[in-house]
Amino acid sequence: MIEESHSVEQTEMIAARLAETFRGGECIALDGEMGAGKTQFVRGLVRGLVGDPHAVASPTFVLLNVYPHGHLTVYHLDAYRVHGPQDFESIGFPELLEQPNAIVVVEWASRVSDLLPERAIRVNIESLAPEHRRITIDRNGT
Ligand SMILES: Nc1ncnc2c1ncn2[C@@H]1O[C@H](COP(=O)(O)OP(=O)(O)O)[C@@H](O)[C@H]1O
Ligand SMILES: [Mg+2]
Repeated sequence: MIEESHSVEQTEMIAARLAETFRGGECIALDGEMGAGKTQFVRGLVRGLVGDPHAVASPTFVLLNVYPHGHLTVYHLDAYRVHGPQDFESIGFPELLEQPNAIVVVEWASRVSDLLPERAIRVNIESLAPEHRRITIDRNGT
């Protein structure tokens, strides 16, 4: 599925709509250049699930942010600064993927591609103009 976004709000809406389909156990693999809108997209996901987009910050410096909500918990990771799969393994990424009530969202997912499950929902964000983004969502049959 390919979506066009012309604003931050539209990007959040696209993400929130996707999030409404989550039941737990999903992994969302986000890719796109710096400033493409990956973190904005996560805001939309969290808003779709939790209702509060302002809680979301870029995890680039802390590697992992956690947003609990009811029986689902969003784990928001950023692979930008990882030096190898062992960084992700040491913060328990493989165990997160096993949790049935976890939504695991990874920015810069291609940097840890070997660790991503086959079932991951792939989201690629391309910046075409200052406010224009092309968002490609590959649900991988789910
Ligand atoms: N249509 C759009 N969708 C998402 N972000 C947009 C859009 N247009 C402009 N932006 C801007 O692009 C930047 C995206 O930043 P961010 O989400 O942190 O990117 P990333 O996490 O991919 O590095 C923000 O400054 C945002 O205001
Ligand atoms: Mg980011």
